[in-house]
Amino acid sequence: MEALHFTLLLLCSLTLVHSISPNCYSTSQGSTLRVYHVSSPCSPFRPKTPLSWEESVLQMQADDKTRLSFLTSLVAGRSFVPVGSGRQIIQSPTYIVKANIGTPAQSLLMALDTSTDMALVPCAGCVGCSSATFDSTKSISYSSLACGADQCKQVQSTGCLGTTCFLNITYGNSIIQANLAQDNLTLATDSVVGYPFSCIQKTTGSSLPPQGVLGLGRGPLSFVSQSKTLYQSTFSYCLPSFKSSNFSGTLRLGKNGQPINIKYTPLLVNPRRTSLYYVNLVGIKVGSKVVNIPPSALAFNPNTGGGTIIDSGTVFTRLVDGAYTAVRDEFRRRMGKAVVSTLGGFDTCYTVPIGKQVPTMTFMFPGLNMSLPQDNFLIHSSSGSTTCLAMSSSPALNVIANMQQQNHRVLFDLPNSRLGISREICS
Ligand SMILES: *[C@@H]1O[C@H](CO)[C@@H](O)[C@H](O)[C@H]1NC(C)=O
Ligand SMILES: *[C@@H]1O[C@H](CO)[C@@H](O)[C@H](O)[C@H]1NC(C)=O
Ligand SMILES: *[C@@H]1O[C@H](CO)[C@@H](O)[C@H](O)[C@H]1NC(C)=O
Ligand SMILES: *[C@@H]1O[C@H](CO)[C@@H](O)[C@H](O)[C@H]1NC(C)=O
Repeated sequence: MEALHFTLLLLCSLTLVHSISPNCYSTSQGSTLRVYHVSSPCSPFRPKTPLSWEESVLQMQADDKTRLSFLTSLVAGRSFVPVGSGRQIIQSPTYIVKANIGTPAQSLLMALDTSTDMALVPCAGCVGCSSATFDSTKSISYSSLACGADQCKQVQSTGCLGTTCFLNITYGNSIIQANLAQDNLTLATDSVVGYPFSCIQKTTGSSLPPQGVLGLGRGPLSFVSQSKTLYQSTFSYCLPSFKSSNFSGTLRLGKNGQPINIKYTPLLVNPRRTSLYYVNLVGIKVGSKVVNIPPSALAFNPNTGGGTIIDSGTVFTRLVDGAYTAVRDEFRRRMGKAVVSTLGGFDTCYTVPIGKQVPTMTFMFPGLNMSLPQDNFLIHSSSGSTTCLAMSSSPALNVIANMQQQNHRVLFDLPNSRLGISREICS
């Protein structure tokens, strides 16, 4: 369970990328990169002093809560939502990949974020960053973007400092000031030349994670859009389990090497939240029973932002109240007389051994059913004495989070506007 203790990362001082064992990167090949859990032995962000299991669960819940408030900001009644939303990102950077930026290349670890577009890079000279990982003065292909640049116009809340495009980003309790810049970004073998990103110059507060953020959203400034000619706006990942000390997750870019036998469901587009990957969750099965969920709890509504998204940065799945209550009640019913306790935001925990009576759980989409292995919806304490249903309720948006996606290949096929999911063990 040590793998759960990643959340101390915000307190950790940063270790340089170079100090990581080269073995940690040895298996990246072609257009396939290794994906690490942030607490992996290969991650410099792993906590030095492990948290207790309860502490780590509560910390992850707290991070999720902040992220959820960002994800649901549209639903909260705002009529205007920024396009290319690089400015209000909240994320718990659970999974990371290695990127190279600039010429000559500088290594940087970046958190995968499917609900953000623009990349965030802590730049040398940054005031308040816990580290400065990218030194733009040492890259001959770096340039800052001018106020008149198209990319600058695509981002809200930009301004000019001299002729340079600047923007302010809210990130948890941090306010970040960055300039828009471009440089070559290399994830696998090929470079995306002139890739635009936010080069962080100043930050306050404590929310900024030490690593950069790689936006894999579907908006115009995301990696997926910017690398379209190289990778045809197609990528997939397999996220390794929280618990495993073997981390063989991958991020695979482009159409090559993607699974052939995989079931798909359509991706839905919300013109008001262009970054987000909406899907049509039509039902949830607990055991053999399709639970009775009010249709409004699952309905996709571009105006309110309601519906279901798939997200790499939230840890535990969130379901809108009516849906969550129905799933939880059916789950509890199946568990029989076992006494239910709570742990922070989890309201369905058991302190007695459970096993045989645990029901199966299936998320149903048009075209595919995602049957969750128990490890994807139950979280067990290190001693094994506590087990919780690892989901909770949400005010407005259903979020299929990364714990529920672990050990699956999740394929984002934008040209065909569809999402593929198949079981794959990558822990
Ligand atoms: C970066 O882009 C420039 C063109 O702007 C190119 O000349 C250079 O070779 C690229 N560097 C890498 C490492 O791909
Ligand atoms: C960003 O915030 C700083 C400090 O509050 C302010 O001076 C600046 O005008 C802001 N810039 C933009 C583009 O909003
Ligand atoms: C990790 O991988 C090694 C070799 O691939 C294997 O022998 C070992 O059993 C694995 N450990 C776990 C905990 O899965
Ligand atoms: C998903 O499960 C439901 C209920 O068991 C079934 O009716 C449906 O055909 C399944 N869909 C697919 C694509 O397998």
